[in-house]
Order: sequence, then structure tokens, then C-alpha cells
Amino acid sequence: MRLFSHAKVNLFLKITGRRPDGFHNLETLFASISVKESLELKEIPQGIEILCNDPSVPTDSRNLIWKAAEALADAAGIKKGIRIRLEKQVPPGSGLGAGSSNAAAALIGLNQLWDAGLSKEELRNIAAGIGSDVPFFLEGGLCVATGRGEILSPVSGVPDLWMVLVRPDVSVSTPWAYKTFDSLTSIPKKGSLSDLTNVLDQSPEIIAAHLVNDLEEAVLPAYAEIRQARDDLLQAGAFGALMSGSGSSVFGIVRDQAHAEQIAVSLKNRYPWVHTARISQGAVEIE
Ligand code: C5P
Repeated sequence: MRLFSHAKVNLFLKITGRRPDGFHNLETLFASISVKESLELKEIPQGIEILCNDPSVPTDSRNLIWKAAEALADAAGIKKGIRIRLEKQVPPGSGLGAGSSNAAAALIGLNQLWDAGLSKEELRNIAAGIGSDVPFFLEGGLCVATGRGEILSPVSGVPDLWMVLVRPDVSVSTPWAYKTFDSLTSIPKKGSLSDLTNVLDQSPEIIAAHLVNDLEEAVLPAYAEIRQARDDLLQAGAFGALMSGSGSSVFGIVRDQAHAEQIAVSLKNRYPWVHTARISQGAVEIE
């Protein structure tokens, strides 16, 4: 069985409070994007084996695919094994949720391949136990998320929005980004989520004027490379640019595919990882 798992960006991310469990309550707008990775699943008699083309990705129990396979097998009382060949496109620590999306794809794929029979609700619960943004990848498209990021409400009418993604050669630790945010004494006032969701059917220029990510306040002062990437996207002609999640990737909203390709070409020799992308309808595809 072969699946594709799509990455995401956060078009909006506001931190609304700290929680007793150590996490933060969020108000975010997730969008799955066309950048995708491939997973090949093959049943084996027992155990979990992960093979990956990127040597910087752990292939043991630290990998979210491993956690997904283990949690699904436990929940459904499955005794079978699995070998997963993972073809990465997105470096770890990019803020594009690629590892979480791999986990969601593994849940959907293994539920079918192992004939585990878990309901969507059961898969959602397992997903939330693996990571805050894993439940989003079971849905994909455009979703408002609250709570830790696991309470989802899909937004209908996914716009055909193009972007350029740039990843400077740094990785940001997500726990560090949230901790640093907590130590800030003041956060500049920004627009609300409804300001953005109300204009999603309008032009890319208008959408781009309403992007928000509170975590930029914590991350950009410590990572000049990420601020520079945002400035470079704007300089190259993007209508608006924002760090995704806790970084280190930055996306710039552009007019259309041709505009995206033109900007990507102009940035390719300055950054190790530059991609064009559009919002995708779903996050997991079974081939
Ligand atoms: O859930 P996930 O494993 O993606 O979270 C990684 C880390 O990011 C958490 O350990 C926590 O420090 C931080 N986080 C948070 N609030 C969220 C999501 C993540 O504080 N809503």
C-alpha cells in the first residue's frame, strides 16, 4: 500500500493561554498544502520497521509513524507487523507538520491494511495522543483549530491559494518557542481570526494582509535567518509572508503558480530548501 502525506502551514496562529497540562490553548487556521511525502506500507510477521531516505530522521520509537503504529496495534489488539518505507521531502524542524502528517497517514493506512476496524473517532483520539496537530492531518484542507490544536472545525470552500516556502538552514525546537513566548512581557496587538476567515474568498493580496503568527514574536528575535527569509520573500514580490508554526519555514502568499515559480527561482541559490505549493483539499491520499 502506498500513501502520500501532505504538509501544512498555519495561516493564523494566536496563543490564547497557558494550560495546566503544560500546553497552550491556540486559535489557529491550518491549511494542508501540495508538498507531500510518500509512505509504502508492507505487512511483515511482527514488529515495526521504518526505512527512510533522510538519515537525519529517527527510524526508531522516536518517529511519530512508530508511535502511530504502536498505538493503533494496542487499541485494536493487532498482533501483526509492518515495514514502512518513508520518502521525506521536508527536513525535520520546519514547522510544516510533515512528521505529524506521516503519523496520520500511517493511522489511516494501517487501519485499512491490518483490517483494524477503528472508527474515525477512535483514530482521532489516538492521533491527539501522538501530537497536537496530528488530528488535523486526518482531515486536511482548511480547518480552524482550538484547544491544543486538536479541536477542529473545517472551513468550506478551500481557496486556490499559491505560496512559496523557504526554509533557512536552522531548526527550531517547538517547546523552546512556546517557552520563549511565555517569557515575553508584551505582544503587539494583531487582527482576529475572523478578519482572515471573512476574506478567504477574496484576492491573495487581501488574504496576505491578514496573516498572524504569535510565535514569530518569540522566534524571530533569536533567529535572524528566519526574519531574513521573511524579508527576502517580501522583497521578491510575495504579498505577505509568515513563519509557519514554530518555524523554521516561512511562506509567502503569491498571485498564482507562475508568480510562485518566478519567486522560487529568484530565491533558490540563497536557500537550501525552496518549494512552491498550493493549498490542497486533503492531507492523506491512498494510491
Ligand atoms: O503536541 P506536540 O508534540 O506537537 O507539542 C510539542 C510541544 O510544543 C509540547 O511539548 C509543548 O511544549 C508545545 N505545545 C504547546 N501547546 C500546544 C502545542 C504544542 O505548548 N498547543
